[in-house]
Order: sequence, then C-alpha cells, then structure tokens
Amino acid sequence: MLTNVDFLRSKMSEAGWKKLDALKNEKLNAFIEEFARRCNPASIYICDDGAADEAYIRETALKKGEEHPMALANQTIHWDGYKDQGRDKRATRYIAYPEDFEKMKSLGTLPYEEGLGEILGIAENIMEGKEAVVKFFAEGPARSPFTVPCVQFTDSFYVAHSECLLYRPAYDHFLNMKAAEKDDFFRFIHSAGKTDERNCSVNLDKRRVYIDTRNDIVYSMNNQYAGNSIGLKKHSMRLAINKSGREGWLCEHMFLMAVLNEKKNRKTYFAGAYPSACGKTSTAMVPGEKIVGDDIVYFRNIKGEFRGVNVEQGIFGIIKDVNAQDDPVIFKNLMLNQETIFSNILLGPDRTPYWQGCGMETPAEGRNHHGAWKKGDKDEEGREIPLAHPNSRYTIRLDYLDNFDKEGFEAKEGVKVQGVLYGGRDSDTTVPVEESPSWENGIMLKACSLESETTSATLGQEGVRSPSPMANLDFVSYPLGEYVLNNLNFVRGMKETPKIFSTNYFMKGPDGKFMTGKLAKKVWLRWAEGRIHGEYGAYETPTGKIPLSADLKNLFKLHLDEDFSEADYEYLFSFRCDKWLEKLARTAAFFKKMDPDAQDRLFDYWKKAAKKIEAAKKKYGAVIKPGDYKG
Ligand code: GTP
Ligand code: MN
Repeated sequence: MLTNVDFLRSKMSEAGWKKLDALKNEKLNAFIEEFARRCNPASIYICDDGAADEAYIRETALKKGEEHPMALANQTIHWDGYKDQGRDKRATRYIAYPEDFEKMKSLGTLPYEEGLGEILGIAENIMEGKEAVVKFFAEGPARSPFTVPCVQFTDSFYVAHSECLLYRPAYDHFLNMKAAEKDDFFRFIHSAGKTDERNCSVNLDKRRVYIDTRNDIVYSMNNQYAGNSIGLKKHSMRLAINKSGREGWLCEHMFLMAVLNEKKNRKTYFAGAYPSACGKTSTAMVPGEKIVGDDIVYFRNIKGEFRGVNVEQGIFGIIKDVNAQDDPVIFKNLMLNQETIFSNILLGPDRTPYWQGCGMETPAEGRNHHGAWKKGDKDEEGREIPLAHPNSRYTIRLDYLDNFDKEGFEAKEGVKVQGVLYGGRDSDTTVPVEESPSWENGIMLKACSLESETTSATLGQEGVRSPSPMANLDFVSYPLGEYVLNNLNFVRGMKETPKIFSTNYFMKGPDGKFMTGKLAKKVWLRWAEGRIHGEYGAYETPTGKIPLSADLKNLFKLHLDEDFSEADYEYLFSFRCDKWLEKLARTAAFFKKMDPDAQDRLFDYWKKAAKKIEAAKKKYGAVIKPGDYKG
C-alpha cells in the first residue's frame, strides 16, 4: 500500500511530518494513515526521542486534565473511571484466523473477520476533534538482540506519558533500522473514546482489547486503566509470547534481580515468576540486593548462554500497603519530588497522595477515583467508597531507586541468568524453597504446577486455588502444551542451564497464620544463591532438594537476627505426599482442559512423578520429615 503523503501531512505539523518522513518506513506510514482516517483525530503529534517531546506529552496530559498537579511539582495524579479500575479480561480477546481458532479457543478467541469488523466499527471517528500522539518505544534495550520495536498511536496523553516512564525510547532505533527489519515491529492503537467531565471513558460497554498475533497489532478502545490501555505492557507481552514461540526464545512474567553474597564480590542473577499479587515486586526489592526489573523478562540464547533483559525501564506498581516499614525504598521514592504518576489514589486537601496501608494518617476528604470524596460516601450501588482503589498504582522510573542495577539493566546482551524461581501462593503444600534436580524437572514440576490462592482482599471464598502455569496464564498466546515445550527446549545446546527453584512465602501453620515473615525471602534467595555456587548441603525429597536446618539457622540469624526453630523447620520443610499428588492431578487436568492436543510427554511426566511420590508415601509415610527420604 502506498501512503497518501498529502493526507498524512494534513494531519500533522511540518516538524511532525519531517520526523515521520525521516524514518522511511512504508508500513509505519500506512498504519498511521489507516488509523488517522478511521479514528479521525483533529491532528497527530509525532514524537522523536528528545526531551522536548516528552515534556510536551506531560504538559498536554496536565492541560487536558488527564493528569492533575500535586504539591510536589514533578508528581501528577490520574484517575480512571470508577468502573475502569482493572484489566478487563472478558473484553480482551485474540482475533484468530480460522487455522488458529480452535487451538487458541481456551485462551479466549473471536473469529478474525468478526472481531476485526467489530473493533474497526468502534474505532470509526473515535478520536474526532482530539489530538492524537504517536511515539516509538523499544521492548528491551534498543539496538540489541532482544529489541522489539513498537509504535503507540493513542489519543491519551496519560497513556503516552506512562509509556515515557515505563519504556525505553526507540525513535532512533526506527531511524536506524535496516531495510530487512522495517516490517518487524508491534503496533498499538488506543483510544479512550468519549470522556466525561472528569476525563474518564464513558462507553465502557464498548470497551474492547483485541489482539492480532499474526499481524502484531493490538486494538484497544474505550478504556484508560493502564492494564487495558498501555500497548507496551500486557498487550505487547501477549504478542511477544506468540512471537517468541515462533522464533524459539522466551517472554516471561518475571522479575529480574541480582543477589549478592556476604562479601559482595559476587553478583548472581535470578529471574522469578510469581502470579499477580504473589511477590514479584517485593522479591526484586528485597533490601540489600539489586533490582533489574519487576514484571516482564525476555530470554535469549546468546552464544550458548541463558541471558535475560528487563523489557521495561519503570515500575507500574501496586501501591496498597506500600509503607515505610514494608517497602522502605519505594516509599521513600514516592515522597520525593521526582517524576511520578499516581493513579486512582486519594489526593488530599493538601494535594499530597494517600492510599490504603500507607502508614500515614489519612484525611477524611479529598479527590479519588470516584470524584470528590468524603469518608463514608457510598457509590451508586450503595457500597462504601474506600479512600483509594485497592488496585491503585504508582508509575516511576527504575533508575530513581538506590538498589537499581544499572549495569545489568543497560547490558545490550542481557545478564547471564543462573537461577530461575517459581513461586505461588500456597498455604499447605510446597516448601519455602526447593531446588529442582534439572531444568526439565523444574519446568514440569515447579513451573507448570504453579497455583495462586485467592486472598481476603478479593471477593469470594478465601483460599480457592487457581492454576497459574509459569505465572503466565493470562498472557500465553499460543497453545499451552506448545508453550511448555518451548520452555523445555529453550535450553538445548546451552553451555550451562540455570538452576530452577520453587519458593513459597505463604505456607500457613495449624493456626491459619503465615509461618514466615515478609523478609524471610532474603534467606531463601541467599540459600539458592549459595547452592548455585556449590555452597550448601541439601536433603533429597521426591520433588527436589531442600536446605539443611543448620544452614537456615545461620542465614536467619545473619540476615534477620531471628532464631529459626527446629519445629518451624520441620513443619515448613516436610514433604506432604497427598497434597502433592492432588496438586499434580489438578495440573494434569488443567492442561488437558486448556490444551487437549498437548503432547503425551507432559502427562507421562506427571504420571511418573506421581508414581514416585506414591512409592515414597508407602515407604516413609504420608508426611515425610526433612532428611528421612532416601529415594
Ligand atoms: P503484580 O504487580 O500485580 O504482578 O504483583 P507482584 O507479584 O509484584 O506482587 P507484590 O510483590 O506487589 O506483592 C503482592 C502482595 O503480597 C502484597 O500485598 C505484599 O504485601 C504481599 N507479600 C509479598 N511478599 C510476602 C511475603 O513474603 N509474605 C506475605 N505474607 N505476604 C507477602
Ligand atoms: Mn509487581
């Protein structure tokens, strides 16, 4: 398709056209022209990587009232609509060609033509009278083996502003693309749609996020909540998972961090997958270690090494319960005059931020996600409006943090990852930390069987388990069985394979209370770090290797000044045969349901693992104490 240059020029300033024209990218021009025609914005602002354009985006978000000023000049606040406060899973669909439709059905599909027709209908004139913005970003470091270049076209300056903080700029990357690369980038088109006097999307019945993994494009309409609107985050993740499946690399829902040793002469990189609200950010932020990223990691085999990068450059973090005690580093940064976007929290009369569990005295009135707010106010459904939404967030750049691992973050070839952690929310089955004997064993028994339990913070029954293979279920965009095989095969031919560990921070004692404190994860991390360097002994279990009590006693004393009791050790590290057998049965049933075509190899593996546990149960009893199991 040849672009109509005159039409494009009529939609932007001469400076904007110069920036676009310099990229000499016909596919890009065609994309912008198509949606300039369909969505019909009054004008389009084209950005390069310069500070002037970032400043324009921020100022425009403020001028349009998508963000509001706060007491500290560099902080702003944004509110999403009262009913646009979380990812809309129901309205998020893959639009799938006939040949993909059946095998992707369990992931949530619509027939391609039907879905495309619907979303393009919604897009018709949706930006009428508004200014739109186009900005270029990279997933991963730009101009690296990991880079996925992306273009975001949106009429929300809040979305563009968030992306400026969260993603690396890539206008220069587009400028320097070789001819052969020019077709290969992700495209995101977003519109907040019609908004009310508070600047919130109103046509929520027409809120849609439609993902086309064949053409690497995501259409997002009539929403503002970042999880629905920001192309570069979860939408991009879905495209990247599909792409990585085709190309043989990995895109995972993981943090990336460096764990140090006592002498601080060793830096060992770990990546860790935990379902939402199960501890990614809090693990990556453990005091005394270093953070590279807290949400999305790409892995590639680079010269035979298992290497990973943080896809992002910022944190879009849950703010609830962030306080000076539990999250000292984040809390401190949220109190500083540096570029921060708060979303859906309370703006007090003093124009400073407040949220649930902030550890500060909170005012009885202010402005929040419902508008003007007084303590005790009820919503349309008669429910009391909390001072802030439980899913309210902060958006900041990572490089503000003292514990930021700049070296690892900037490495174009990523960091060499030596440990991979999988952690769920599990009150009664898995031990706090366990090493897998092999990569395959770790993927099959630790990653595939990952589950999360509902907490009292969510509606419905407490303690209900939901499967969350690799903590990635919401974003896996090709059949689950194939995805597991890609994980298994990824390490083929590598010189060294990372050790896989499971962790569980959420084991409960007989009294129903958590057995370990929030900082205990430091001990599990340091034990895993030591194991990678051959430093600690271990006992065998039917599923892996667990720490010796003496080593943990030392680590607890050293790092937390706590006495770790023998009784706690025995309780936490006992192997519960029946619980494990149930867990494996649930895992196999779930895979069968999600992907009936998954290879027998997977089910055979779980059958064999179950046999081993049954044999152990016969020999050692249903609950096996640490040290008793001898194979
Ligand atoms: P997303 O950003 O939504 O993907 O979540 P996340 O995986 O980054 O989770 P995060 O680290 O923000 O933690 C989620 C919740 O778990 C918070 O309420 C934490 O306070 C709580 N939490 C984290 N670590 C622990 C722990 O070791 N023990 C207990 N009991 N709670 C924890
Ligand atoms: Mn997080």
